[in-house]
Amino acid sequence: MKQPLIEVKNLKKYFPIKNGFLNRNVSNVKAVDGLDFTIYKGETLGLVGESGCGKSTTGRTILQLLEPTDGEVIYERKNLVEMNKKDLRKARRDLQMVFQDPYASLDPRLTVRSIISEPLEIHGLYSNGERKKKVDELLDVVGLSSFHANRYAHEFSGGQRQRIGIARALALNPKLVVADEPVSALDVSIQSQVINLLQDLQEQFQLTYLFIAHDLSVVKHISDRIGVMYLGRIVELADKNKLFESPKHPYTKALLSAIPVPNPLIKKERIVLQGDVPNPANPPSGCTFHPRCSACMDICRKEKPAFREVDGQFVACHLYN
Ligand SMILES: Nc1ncnc2c1ncn2[C@@H]1O[C@H](COP(=O)(O)OP(=O)(O)OP(=O)(O)O)[C@@H](O)[C@H]1O
Ligand SMILES: [Mg+2]
Repeated sequence: MKQPLIEVKNLKKYFPIKNGFLNRNVSNVKAVDGLDFTIYKGETLGLVGESGCGKSTTGRTILQLLEPTDGEVIYERKNLVEMNKKDLRKARRDLQMVFQDPYASLDPRLTVRSIISEPLEIHGLYSNGERKKKVDELLDVVGLSSFHANRYAHEFSGGQRQRIGIARALALNPKLVVADEPVSALDVSIQSQVINLLQDLQEQFQLTYLFIAHDLSVVKHISDRIGVMYLGRIVELADKNKLFESPKHPYTKALLSAIPVPNPLIKKERIVLQGDVPNPANPPSGCTFHPRCSACMDICRKEKPAFREVDGQFVACHLYN
């Protein structure tokens, strides 16, 4: 039986847009607008969607690095959103993040040893000697070695820096790692090395991943299930194979058609999406995808489709009502 690790219920994050002159809230960017899903223990849940659809905000809001506007995040039967500071601090040890840009996310003034041992110090874990040993172990685990420990992050290549970021995220023995586009900033040749490392570590430490990426080809290899986001909502969530073999949502179909096929003999029809992603401060009525949808019906302009289960996959689309 699959056991839930994190349950996200009606999660919302709105960013206020202020009027410069009177500094009043004039409207909101609905970056995350009502998410319902579960992350199961030991799985990798991929989260994909175009730029600005709310992927990073989702990750950060789940980890309470951003305060949710509404909704619940249940971890070990407790709602992180309502937790007091002390309990949240403790829960955060289990919930870590790996960032997209290994150039910007590591402090260039710190040695690798300081970067990796910082979380241990913040949480007052281990004596100095034990901390040193722990950092050496972590470096080994991510494929670096202890002689790297006294160098500075800027002395390393992108792939190595991301290994340092991963070692730091693992320092507190987390249960969940939110990896926010962890390979997008890396050379294609390095990307698969880092993805393979993440997979090895998952097995070794029984980790659960929320793996965020722009496009489906990156998450295809690593994910067990995949959620497709569009304008602050998940429009489809399914087992990876189901999503690739029988996508339901027209947006998922369009994203899939954009993946290049290695075999030139296979002809694939490419669905070109019309227009850009709409402004999340002023989203379209009804189904927010309707202005770009080739299957748009009357109801799509008026009513927001519910997110419901169809043939074992979840989809928010009037075609399946
Ligand atoms: N701190 C903030 N203040 C105001 N608006 C924000 C803030 N952070 C994000 N947004 C807006 O929220 C929306 C979602 O942003 P988010 O960064 O979550 O998207 P994303 O899917 O991660 O995009 P990308 O693929 O480019 O990383 C965007 O419209 C963005 O401009
Ligand atoms: Mg992002």
